[in-house]
Order: sequence, then C-alpha cells, then structure tokens
Amino acid sequence: MLEDVLAIPDHLRDAIWRVESARISPAESAGVIVCGMGGSAIGADLAIAALGDRLVRPLLTVRGYELPSWVRDDWTLLFSSYSGDTEETLVCFAAAEGIGARRIVTGTGGELVEAAREAEVSVIGLPGLLSAPRAAVAYTMVCVAQVAALAGAAPRIDAELEAAAAFLAERTEDMQVRAGEIAARLEGKLPVIHGADLTIAVARRWKGQVNENAKLPAFLSEIPEANHNEICGWEGASATGARLAAVMLEDADQHPHERRRFELTAATVEASGAEVVRIETEGETRVARLLWATMLGDLVSVKLAEARGVDPLAVDALDALKAALGRL
Ligand code: F6R
Repeated sequence: MLEDVLAIPDHLRDAIWRVESARISPAESAGVIVCGMGGSAIGADLAIAALGDRLVRPLLTVRGYELPSWVRDDWTLLFSSYSGDTEETLVCFAAAEGIGARRIVTGTGGELVEAAREAEVSVIGLPGLLSAPRAAVAYTMVCVAQVAALAGAAPRIDAELEAAAAFLAERTEDMQVRAGEIAARLEGKLPVIHGADLTIAVARRWKGQVNENAKLPAFLSEIPEANHNEICGWEGASATGARLAAVMLEDADQHPHERRRFELTAATVEASGAEVVRIETEGETRVARLLWATMLGDLVSVKLAEARGVDPLAVDALDALKAALGRL
C-alpha cells in the first residue's frame, strides 16, 4: 500500500496516457455521471472538487443501485470499478443501456469490462497490479477529469495534472515525515475529519483510508454545514467516553469566512478537551493542493495501520459483507 501511495505521481502520468490510448472521441453531452463505489468512486469526487467552478455542465457521482430518473440519452455515463465486479455499478451499467446514453467503462476486468466489450462500449483499462481498488484513486480522478473534458463539461487539465505530479514527487519525503507526526497525534483517538469546499472530498478520502487501511472508525464533517448543527455536539464530547480528535483540512486559497469558521470550530473542539490537528494544503493550483492533501491522508492512514500492527491491505469486514450478501 505504501508503495502504491508513493507512486501516485506516476499513476497520474500513466492515467493521462491510458485515457488517450482508449481513443474515446469527444462528444458534447448534457452532463456526466460517474457510477462507482468506495475506492472507485472517490476519485470522481476529487475530480469534481479539483475542477471547481471550471465545470460548465453537471458532473456528479452516483453511489448506489439507481441512476437518477432524469438522465436522458444526451448524457455521458462513466462506470468505474477497479475489480469490475461491483454489484451496484453493474446494475447501473445494465440500466443505462435502455436510456441510450453514451457509456464508458474504467476498470481492470471482471464482469463490467466483459459486458462493455460485448456491447462495444469504450474501456479505459487500469493496471491490474495495484494493491487494492482504493490504490487506484489517482487513475480514477484523471479518468473522470478527462472524460468530463471529452463530454464538454470542463476544460482539459492535463498541464495541471502533470505539474501536480512533479510537485508531489518532489515533496514525497517531506510528506512522509509530516504524515508520521500527524499519525502520532491521532493514535488511540477517533478522528473527525473536517473539510470545506476543495477539501470536503479529500476529507472523505481520509475517512475511507483510515477505515480501510488502519481498520479504525473515522467520521467526516463538512464546513460550513457542521457549524449549523454538529458544532453543538462537541459540548457533550467528553460525556461519550470517546477520545476524539478533529482534523481540519484547510485549503490555502479558501474563502476568508471558511478560514474563520475553521478557527472558531477548532476553538470549540479544543474547549471540549479533544485534540485538534490543523493542516493547510500546499501547492499552487487546486489540483496540486487537492492531490497533496489526498496523498498526505493516504500516508497518515498507512502510518496508523503500522502503529496498530494491522495489514493495510486486508479488508476482511468488507469481503465478509459482500460474501454474506450473495449475488443478485
Ligand atoms: C477495496 C476498496 C473498496 C472498493 C469497493 C468497490 O480496496 O477500496 O472501497 O473500491 O468495494 O469495489 P471496486 O473498486 O472493485 O468496484
């Protein structure tokens, strides 16, 4: 897992090449929907955040069994599943056929790629040698950003992606040290990861990586929404008996009132007796800052796994649940 996280800069470059190799022709669409789950969905959220207000048409992630009822044949639908065997994604892929919308698939194989080949649907192939689906996050993010550009929903961001890859490669050692320090502060605590705007998707990634790699509970908190409800809950934090820690993922280029909200939320959390870890993103562009914070979180989750002596690759609970559910 650590090797895969450290290879994120290479994954970004390879992903650009893989999308090009799929030779998907540009086609203006009403919008783009990405269907996927877990590690194959979060890259879509990251792409949406990275594009921000450069999006000129809707781009959204669907996690579940159903496509929105309003999807028509002028939409582009991207089905993302690393294994190609995820039930929810397969169901949406089948449902989309009747709508007549353009379908594109990304994954390593499985039933999804097989069905795509049969239906002559374009496939963006991913490398099958990664340690887990969630290790392909940079691939998914690039695929989604590039497909959005092909559908006329956003401009191409290749140059930003390339520059971000170079920036991350340069920062790798520094980030590992930083991750070790953050993990040490989070050890034995229940993290509540806060994000705002650009960093909400990143906070969701942190949560998932702490869950899957370190086998620990973790929760997501979105600012400003959390300031309208969750903020009251910190008053009773000590009454729960949980050792809580709030991680504040703050973007260097955030709205001034988001900055102030983070400061005020941090003060409330500290007053409850919980630990506060504040992190400000580094990098020049939205893409670089988002990927920097994502890679840092991945490293923190691996360090937490190491500290607990658990294997970051094993996802026994997830596998057991899929097995218990059986096939549709
Ligand atoms: C496992 C992981 C999961 C999977 C999810 C969907 O490493 O990260 O979150 O990504 O269960 O499976 P795929 O990605 O194969 O469609």
